[in-house]
Amino acid sequence: MYIINRFRGARGLKFGAFVLGLIGAFWWTTTANKNLMTIHVDNYNTETNKHIRDDCACSNITRKIAANTSGSHPTTSLTKSTKQNTEKTISTHITGYAKLKKLVETNKNIYKHDLQRKQFNEPYELKLKSVFSKTEYDKCSQVISESGLRHDVQYFVFQYNYNPSPIDVTLLSHLTLERGIHRIEKILAQWPGPASLSVFGTDDEIQNFLNTTHSWKRNNIGIHVVYQRNATYYPVNFMRNVAIYGANTSHIWMIDADFTPNKDAYQLIKKYIFRFDWTGTKRPALITPAFETALNEGGVPDNRTQLLKKLEDNSTLVTFSFTRCPNCHINTNWEQFMIATEEYKVKGGGNFEPYLVLQRNNSPIYDERLIARHWNKILYDYELFVLHYEFNVLPDVFIVHEPHERIKQPKVEFMCLEKIGRLIKDELNKKRIFLQQSIATHRQVHKAH
Ligand SMILES: *[C@@H]1O[C@H](CO)[C@@H](O)[C@H](O)[C@H]1NC(C)=O
Ligand SMILES: *[C@@H]1O[C@H](CO)[C@@H](O)[C@H](O)[C@H]1NC(C)=O
Ligand SMILES: *[C@@H]1O[C@H](CO)[C@@H](O)[C@H](O)[C@H]1NC(C)=O
Ligand SMILES: *[C@@H]1O[C@H](CO)[C@@H](O)[C@H](O)[C@H]1NC(C)=O
Ligand SMILES: *[C@@H]1O[C@H](CO)[C@@H](O)[C@H](O)[C@H]1NC(C)=O
Ligand SMILES: *[C@@H]1O[C@H](CO)[C@@H](O)[C@H](O)[C@H]1NC(C)=O
Ligand SMILES: *[C@@H]1O[C@H](CO)[C@@H](O)[C@H](O)[C@H]1NC(C)=O
Repeated sequence: MYIINRFRGARGLKFGAFVLGLIGAFWWTTTANKNLMTIHVDNYNTETNKHIRDDCACSNITRKIAANTSGSHPTTSLTKSTKQNTEKTISTHITGYAKLKKLVETNKNIYKHDLQRKQFNEPYELKLKSVFSKTEYDKCSQVISESGLRHDVQYFVFQYNYNPSPIDVTLLSHLTLERGIHRIEKILAQWPGPASLSVFGTDDEIQNFLNTTHSWKRNNIGIHVVYQRNATYYPVNFMRNVAIYGANTSHIWMIDADFTPNKDAYQLIKKYIFRFDWTGTKRPALITPAFETALNEGGVPDNRTQLLKKLEDNSTLVTFSFTRCPNCHINTNWEQFMIATEEYKVKGGGNFEPYLVLQRNNSPIYDERLIARHWNKILYDYELFVLHYEFNVLPDVFIVHEPHERIKQPKVEFMCLEKIGRLIKDELNKKRIFLQQSIATHRQVHKAH
């Protein structure tokens, strides 16, 4: 008990302003509202996306934005080359180009159906109008219109050649080049396994990035660039989905880029995957507990032994994110964690937003209507709860949040995101009730027999 109280006390840690649910996109500065006039199809698969966009051109806002872009298209040479030759969306000099192209297409197809309900469309726009007052809607018009954007993407911009084992896990993450670029090296230094990372930037930033020799380059790292263009908000869930489309392993592990995994995470996760039944009706979700350190260097323990030691006798490490959002990780059950020798079950739901290892191909896709920093991960994990996933905490795989400057979120932005989040949560709750009723009916039918 002493240990628990002690690390809950969060001594020695001071963090900036707290915004609830501020877990998504730390690497992104919201700049003053520039004119938003861009909607881009994802170059990679123009056909599919044109189709989706046409469906969605239903949306008045989207249509207006789209109308505004016609004629004012790409000005930089980089853009021109990608526009003129969509084949170049995966650089043709990359060996295995055709195989990679196929991989992304196949992946997009897997999640297509699920994604359709998680993108901006006309019924959703009408719903928004019914929950926002006219004044609010106007105040939020920038957030709302950007929540319907599909940014240009180039998949696999560097050499990639990896043949997964039948049971294997890809680390997924996303970041902005402006604030997060140094994190790539830090994460990959701890993770020898395959990774799929989406990176966001202006045309200039991306050009620089592509033209730099990176020490972390390896054959098992897929890097995908997403063009910011005139957007002002970080499209956090769009970014996560891009990372998912670049994965080719049985399992995926999505983390935010300001977290660093412990050293043996890759080997350990593979070991745990074998211990679960992935074919039953209760689908497993493996929780990798999250901590945070105030140290810039040396704050990430190598293993559980070191972790417990640091929690006990060193005020440089606390559970995430006790100071900012005490409920977001409370279901991890920290008291149990301290004594655990193997995985243990916990409850999902509420505002619980753990980082998870999931089976690829049958997990939900992220809701692209959620942008910037609020609700974006809570609602993903909430959906897993709705879908009756079984949450299991791993005792010795963990991630540690490292310090970085926090940008205060404007009140209006928060208000807009809050309402959008509530609306999407309502959708999920309807799904939940529907599923519960279906299960109840099924049981009754069974009894009657
Ligand atoms: C379209 O562009 C015009 C001129 O730049 C601007 O006044 C208008 O607000 C834009 N409309 C939208 C929906 O962005
Ligand atoms: C971005 O907006 C500026 C004006 O605000 C416009 O001149 C430019 O063409 C836009 N760029 C793209 C790629 O749409
Ligand atoms: C994806 O993995 C499968 C084996 O699991 C392999 O046959 C295929 O070539 C891989 N695709 C890519 C693009 O690496
Ligand atoms: C789109 O605009 C038309 C008229 O311009 C309007 O009748 C319709 O209700 C609008 N749709 C939405 C979803 O706002
Ligand atoms: C890329 O870098 C090289 C060497 O640093 C430089 O000569 C070249 O102009 C750069 N190309 C672009 C497109 O920035
Ligand atoms: C944990 O890490 C420390 C420091 O790297 C190392 O000395 C120790 O042997 C490790 N313990 C286990 C059980 O791997
Ligand atoms: C706490 O941890 C830091 C970094 O690992 C280390 O430099 C320091 O000596 C530790 N303090 C104690 C009391 O263990």
